[in-house]
Amino acid sequence: MISDKLIKEVAEIFASDSGGHDFAHTMRVVRLAQKIAEAEGADTEIVSLAALLHDVDDHKLTGGEFGCTDRARMLLNKYGYSDEILDRVCEAIRTVSFKGTDTEKPKTLEGMAVQDADRLDAIGAIGVARAFAYGGANARPMFDPDIPPAAEMNAEEYKKSRSTTINHFYEKLLLIKDMMNTETAKRIAEGRHSFLISFLDRFYSEWNGEK
Ligand code: ADP
Ligand code: NI
Repeated sequence: MISDKLIKEVAEIFASDSGGHDFAHTMRVVRLAQKIAEAEGADTEIVSLAALLHDVDDHKLTGGEFGCTDRARMLLNKYGYSDEILDRVCEAIRTVSFKGTDTEKPKTLEGMAVQDADRLDAIGAIGVARAFAYGGANARPMFDPDIPPAAEMNAEEYKKSRSTTINHFYEKLLLIKDMMNTETAKRIAEGRHSFLISFLDRFYSEWNGEK
C-alpha cells in the first residue's frame, strides 16, 4: 500500500539519527498506528502514510530547515499521491507532535491514531530505552535528586528544557496515558504505563542501595 521506494527514501532521511528519532521508531509507529486504525475504523492508507512521514519535518532532525509538513508534501508529490491524500496526510501529521501544554488534539480519526501510536512509543520498555538514549545523546544527567521536575511547560519551555532524564518521566512520559485519543490506545497505554511506574520504583530503590 505504501510505495517501497518511499519507505526506502524515508529510511535514508533517518540514517544518521541515534537519539530516539530513528527509522525503527518510525516503523514501530507505522505498525502500531495501523493496528489502532484497523480497530477504530480509520483510513489505513492515510494513517500508514502519516505515520511513515510524521517525523520527517521534525525540527530536531531538520534543524528547522523545513516548515511543518514541507518535506512530507514534497515526498508524497514525488511518489504521485493525489492532492486529496496529500492534504489528509498532512493534516494528520500536523497535530501529532507533543508540545507540552500547547499540544493540539487532532481533528480527524486518522490524526488521532497516529498521535496515539507516536506517544505509545514513548512509554513502556521502548519508551524507557528511548528516553535514556535521548539523554545520552544530549549529555543530560540520568538523575539528580536536587533538580525537581517542572510542573507544566508550554512548547517553548519544553523545547529549551535541560532537565534530567528521570525528570522527563514526570514532565512527559507519565502524562501520556491520560492523553490517548482512542479506546484501543488507552488499553495499550495501561500496560506500558504500569511498566514505567515499576521501573521508577526500582530505579529509586537501587539508587538508594535498597535492592
Ligand atoms: P515527539 O516524537 O512526540 O515529538 P520528542 O521528539 O519530544 O517526541 O521525543 C522523542 C523521544 O525522545 C521520545 O521518546 C522522548 O520521550 C525522548 N525525549 C524527548 N525529550 C527528552 C528529554 N528531555 N529527556 C529524555 N528523553 C527525551
Ligand atoms: Ni515520532
